[in-house]
Amino acid sequence: MTNETIRLQPLTGSVGVSLSGIDLTTDFTEAEADALRSALYNHCVLILRDQFLSPDDHMRLAAVFGEPFLPWYYAKNSLDDYPKIAIVPNFGKAKAPAESWHTDWSHMPTPPTVSVALAHVLPETGGDTMFSNQYVAYDRLSEGMKQLIAGRRGKFVGSRPKRVQKMHGRPDTLPSTEREPVDNYHPIARVHPETGRTALYLNRPGKSMVAIEGLTEAESLPILQFLYDQSSTPDNVYRHQWRPGDVVCWDNQCAMHYGVHDYGDAERTLHRITVGGAE
Ligand SMILES: [Fe+2]
Repeated sequence: MTNETIRLQPLTGSVGVSLSGIDLTTDFTEAEADALRSALYNHCVLILRDQFLSPDDHMRLAAVFGEPFLPWYYAKNSLDDYPKIAIVPNFGKAKAPAESWHTDWSHMPTPPTVSVALAHVLPETGGDTMFSNQYVAYDRLSEGMKQLIAGRRGKFVGSRPKRVQKMHGRPDTLPSTEREPVDNYHPIARVHPETGRTALYLNRPGKSMVAIEGLTEAESLPILQFLYDQSSTPDNVYRHQWRPGDVVCWDNQCAMHYGVHDYGDAERTLHRITVGGAE
């Protein structure tokens, strides 16, 4: 297959692209791997429709973006014989781990870069995922705000289970005896290593991101709330309606995402590989 067969279709004016013309069931040529990486890193979200990938295909695709990674304490949640393919079920509305704008595992020392998710079981309706473009979120700030956050890191907080166990929602819904707190600092405005563009790196103000380095929490929170609110306005969002066979890749280095929980207790299961992170 040659490069001329690869087609890119932007999904909105700001974020997301659909790619076709690459066979995801065989080894990739260097040009194909480059096309997949370039599409994702420039558009923040990459959609590959009508794929029904085997676990081996899924692993091969994820490896294009980096080293697969699943925290040790979620080892019970992976596919048989594929310890890096996480099974992500419906945790229920009350424990929805993703129903807010967020980036994945930002409290880790090295947060993951890319996630590659497959639709395994979908509800009849609902269960969309929204994505926003954090290059755009940075670019539209005033020069004064860019100067204020330049070179500053944010304090990202969270918790992790103390022992290997099944996921049942976000770690902070576990009893306190079952988890331990974690915090790490990361730059708020980061240069993407592949595109050279600057993107905001944020998470839930006051919950997952509590301070700007050098400022008190009280001083930080209104600024973080402003940055967060302006980062995901409707003109900067792609809302993905999952279909069977969908593969959705997102880049945590330039996207935030939001899992819409409007499907009650209906079954919805994704298979997901996350790459680039370290505990
Ligand atoms: Fe997430």
